[in-house]
Amino acid sequence: MQIVVAPGDGIGKEVIPVAEKILRILHPDWEYIPVLLGYDCFVKTGTALPKESLMALTRADAILFGAVTTPPDPDYSSVILSIRKELDLYANLRPIIGHGFDIMIVRENTEGLYAGIEWQEKDRACSLRVVSEAGTRRIARTALALAKKRKGHVTIGNKANILKSDAYFNRICIGEAEASGIRYSLKYIDALVLDLLQHPDRYDVILTTNIFGDILSDAAGYLVGGLGCLPSANIGERHALFEPVHGSAPDIAGTNTANPVAAIRSAAMLLEHLGDTAGAAKIHDAINQAIHTGCRTHDQGGSYTTSGFGEEIVRWLTKT
Ligand code: NAD
Ligand code: IPM
Ligand code: MN
Repeated sequence: MQIVVAPGDGIGKEVIPVAEKILRILHPDWEYIPVLLGYDCFVKTGTALPKESLMALTRADAILFGAVTTPPDPDYSSVILSIRKELDLYANLRPIIGHGFDIMIVRENTEGLYAGIEWQEKDRACSLRVVSEAGTRRIARTALALAKKRKGHVTIGNKANILKSDAYFNRICIGEAEASGIRYSLKYIDALVLDLLQHPDRYDVILTTNIFGDILSDAAGYLVGGLGCLPSANIGERHALFEPVHGSAPDIAGTNTANPVAAIRSAAMLLEHLGDTAGAAKIHDAINQAIHTGCRTHDQGGSYTTSGFGEEIVRWLTKT
């Protein structure tokens, strides 16, 4: 297997080495190929996503990605968005798992407000929101297939009361749900955010459009200890990229204090994707054991460093 490893910027450079080390313990025979990309790469080389890096990403069996810094500069394009588009990683899967709940947020990952059709006029700036039939059908099918293997329910969340593009999204999703026989509910995204936080046990799969899924997943982090704990998968027909939900966290970058759990669980999702379910389970068990015995990074009220926490996970993994 060829795993391309892209730490990116900020705490990506701290949490990804920990996750990579764990993959190397479980699969020492795999090839791990480091690639340069992100804002630091842009500053050094003048390009944020060098051609060779993109080529390596397209050849990988799976990608382990950290995070990239995106300055709010109208002339700078987000590297992770370019990769999601280039590799057509249309399904963003964000599991939210805690005591008494197991939720999968399925976020459409290539269109909506992120379609990239934007322009500036004299006295206004516009971003066009695109919801296509093909784009909706494929993400609806992803969510329904997941629900079928889980508790058999999909909540479709967005702003269909106001946005015609979401009403269109719902019509297609309802058609797909009815054809599949999977139960579904419709909810407006504002009410859904609160209800998810108050009653997480009522949810199984949540299907939503791009930016609402972005916001909903950070908010859901509240249920599981914050951004340092949330992993994700970006899946397409031919490529797959695994990354923490969090960003490059410039406020704590370089201090070796970031929580590596999101990155390590993303590595577990990568293994699951490549068929190593047992390896994925080992990683989750090791994290749960470490947390159970009091290993906590700063965001969880503890004093473990990023690398120190990683060593604990390695210790649990290699315990016989
Ligand atoms: P962020 O997720 O980087 O940080 C938000 C807050 O959460 C910060 O206070 C940070 O310290 C904390 N945090 C995040 N991850 C943590 C961890 N593992 N352990 C402990 N604390 C953690 O979001 P932001 O500050 O809004 O964005 C910073 C930069 O990251 C921006 O340039 C943004 O565009 C980028 N970003 C990139 C990605 C990605 O590459 N996938 C995702 C989100 C944000
Ligand atoms: C995420 C991030 C990205 C998004 C940004 C950095 C483009 O916030 O992965 O959640 O909005 O999708
Ligand atoms: Mn986000």
